[in-house]
Amino acid sequence: MCRRALWLLCAGLLFSASLGCYQCFVDVEESLRLCWGHILTEYNVRNVDACFQMLDRIFNNNQSVIEAGRVGKGYDQQLKEILDAEILSVVEEFSNQLNNDSVYEERLQTAADNFIAAASKLPRVSGCVPPCGVQSEGAVYNCITCQFDSCEFPLDCPVTEMNVTQYSSSRMWCQVPFQLPRDLEVIWRFAEKVKTQQVDQFKEVTVGVDRLYSIPSTRLQNQGTYQCEIFSGQRSIVRLYYYLAVTPQVVAGHTELQETFDLSLLPGGRLLPAPGGPPPQPPLLPSPLLLAACLTAVLLLLFLSLGTLYFLTVPERESDCEEQAHGDEGLAS
Ligand SMILES: *[C@@H]1O[C@H](CO)[C@@H](O)[C@H](O)[C@H]1NC(C)=O
Ligand SMILES: *[C@@H]1O[C@H](CO)[C@@H](O)[C@H](O)[C@H]1NC(C)=O
Ligand SMILES: *[C@@H]1O[C@H](CO)[C@@H](O)[C@H](O)[C@H]1NC(C)=O
Repeated sequence: MCRRALWLLCAGLLFSASLGCYQCFVDVEESLRLCWGHILTEYNVRNVDACFQMLDRIFNNNQSVIEAGRVGKGYDQQLKEILDAEILSVVEEFSNQLNNDSVYEERLQTAADNFIAAASKLPRVSGCVPPCGVQSEGAVYNCITCQFDSCEFPLDCPVTEMNVTQYSSSRMWCQVPFQLPRDLEVIWRFAEKVKTQQVDQFKEVTVGVDRLYSIPSTRLQNQGTYQCEIFSGQRSIVRLYYYLAVTPQVVAGHTELQETFDLSLLPGGRLLPAPGGPPPQPPLLPSPLLLAACLTAVLLLLFLSLGTLYFLTVPERESDCEEQAHGDEGLAS
């Protein structure tokens, strides 16, 4: 029993020195069972340490094995199953019998080859979303650290520029395209006037869970850089930056006129609808009043023509006076 404990300790020490896919997934108990009957041919003695060194060489320190283990997020369990299955079959094969080191070497090498072949077929897409933020578990599995690599992006995101006119509203979102932990704290900071990413230039504005920073009526003194930092626990996850440039309203009016003029010079002279503005109106119909006036004029013209025609066709004996009356009747009816 004491000896067994010593072995466990020994194995623990041996494996902690160098990690690898084998170390990540196969427990020491199983390794001891595997190495129990390992014979060093040179001295014809049973030697477990030499067996562990062999395991290290074939599995843990071999670049091809480590490379095969670089699977995408969520596939580490399958990686473990593949390796377990390989090792278990060797353990069962060698169970309670002595084998010399060349037999071990050959059998373990085959197991490693099988592992590489199967593991290489597992998906290895990285879940990293550039360009910034601490995205733990985003990258592929790492058999050297026995965990998923972090994506190794910088904490600071590039500055996003925003132009707003004086007195209009501004909204900034502290949003990232990757998944965040549940417990979050958001700190908004502001560096007046300047466009910067230097930490010491910022003054804290709000602390809480609010991901939206909104200015209902933007003033000239709101110009500057806004930084939002997301924390989970005490750990900073990402820092976003917005540089807000505020255009005074007088100047803005002038610019708009210039833009309208430029646009009207385009072929067709069509004005692009202002973004966020009202939807384009359908072409205007003539007003009912105008329609009525038009119709009346047409009818008037028609009756006048009919009257003239009648005047030309009636017999000559009728007096001018009578004809005039007829014409008037025609007009009146
Ligand atoms: C190892 O064992 C195998 C099978 O028992 C045997 O054929 C081989 O000769 C041995 N090798 C050495 C170096 O003793
Ligand atoms: C690593 O393992 C592969 C496959 O098992 C083998 O072909 C290769 O020679 C090994 N590399 C080293 C440096 O031992
Ligand atoms: C904001 O305005 C500046 C200067 O007029 C211009 O260079 C910049 O491209 C604008 N940025 C955006 C996002 O519209």
